[in-house]
Formats: sequence, structure tokens, C-alpha cells
Amino acid sequence: MAKLRVGVLISGRGSNLAALMEAARHPDYPAEIAIVISNRPGAAGLEKARAAGIPICALDHKIAESREAFDRAMDETLRQAGVDLICMAGYMRVLSDAFVETWHNRMINIHPSLLPAYPGLNTHRRALADGVRITGCTVHFVRKEVDTGPIIAQAAVPVLATDDEESLAARVLAAEHVLYPFALRLIASGQVSVDGNRIIDRGLGSHATSSLFSPRPE
Ligand code: GRF
Repeated sequence: MAKLRVGVLISGRGSNLAALMEAARHPDYPAEIAIVISNRPGAAGLEKARAAGIPICALDHKIAESREAFDRAMDETLRQAGVDLICMAGYMRVLSDAFVETWHNRMINIHPSLLPAYPGLNTHRRALADGVRITGCTVHFVRKEVDTGPIIAQAAVPVLATDDEESLAARVLAAEHVLYPFALRLIASGQVSVDGNRIIDRGLGSHATSSLFSPRPE
């Protein structure tokens, strides 16, 4: 079966991109990375993709005429690369409504919280300030409202009493690197469909049925 062709949008270090590239190296993985696009020419993730032999494209948003014009250029690049699905992986620029509409149900994002809690920036700082005992990460389809859209998969991560922003971010990031390739596999193998704001999945293995306690009762 033909592999799903994925375009990855990044702005920075690209550790989630690296996790997706690693998964896609396996011959039986149902998706391949067709192109990596960054809105920042200096993004470290671009170098990771180049080293892996994946086509890259740096589109500098600072010299674009407008957000719409920039997104049109990105759309054109994605089409030329034959992309079926977009994965946003630390892409730090708000997308135009037209772009989001064009890629409706064909664009996913990873976010470092258990959405709908903590959309936006500084998720770990806010979770620590609120004293939550469990946080996590979410992969979801992209809608116009930032960090909303049908949720494909989530991972719950405990917050420890000793955590600071950095240690919590590192624990959540490790979960992101497992969750994102897993969620992409679910989509690429045709096991996910969207029903309103919910996902119907035909399951790749069983759902966890045990609860995550934090702290854990003895
Ligand atoms: C990740 O925490 C991701 O959830 C968020 O931005 C960060 C990107 O990190 N959207 P990286 O560039 O993938 O390392």
C-alpha cells in the first residue's frame, strides 16, 4: 500500500520531527516524510532533516508580504511535494483561516498539555502554578481556534513535587516523542475518522484501562 506523504512544519529544534523521522525509517511504517518546511531559516530541525536526506524548504516569514501570502507559498510547496497530511511540530506561527480550511482534517498538531487544559504558550509553567498533579500532551486535528480540534491521542504525565518547568517539560517531551509517531500511524493506517469534534478510531491495540494516579496510592 502507498505510504501517506507527510509535510512537517517546524520553527525550532525539531525533536518531534526527529521522532517522526525515526519512526518513518522503518519499512512497515505507513507514512513517509515528503518535506520539512520551516518559517525560520535558522531552525535546527532543518539541519536534522537535511542530514537524513529529506527535502527541506525555508520560507522566511519576515520577508513575506502578508500572513496570507506566506501561507499560500507554503501551500504551493506542500502541493508540489505531493503532501497528503501536515504535521505541525513546534510550528510557532498562527496559520491563516484559508490555510486551515484548505487542510481541514489533513493537518495535525502536537501540544504539550492535556487539551483543552492549557492551550497556548507556557503550558508547564501554568500547570505548575496551578498545582495540577497530572499533565501531558495531545495530538489533535487543527481548527481555526489555536490548540483546538478533534483529539486523536493523549498521554498523561505525572507532575512531581520536585519538578520545575525544565524537568516537567523534559518528561512531557519524552511522552510527545512516543505519542506523535503513534498518532500518525493511527491516521496513516486508516484507523481514525472524524465525527464532529470527536475521533472514532478502530484502535491499534487496546486502550489503557488502568488509571494514572499521581501521587500513587500505596
Ligand atoms: C513541543 O513541546 C511541542 O509540543 C510544541 O512545541 C514543542 C516543539 O519542540 N508544539 P520540538 O521543536 O519538536 O523539539
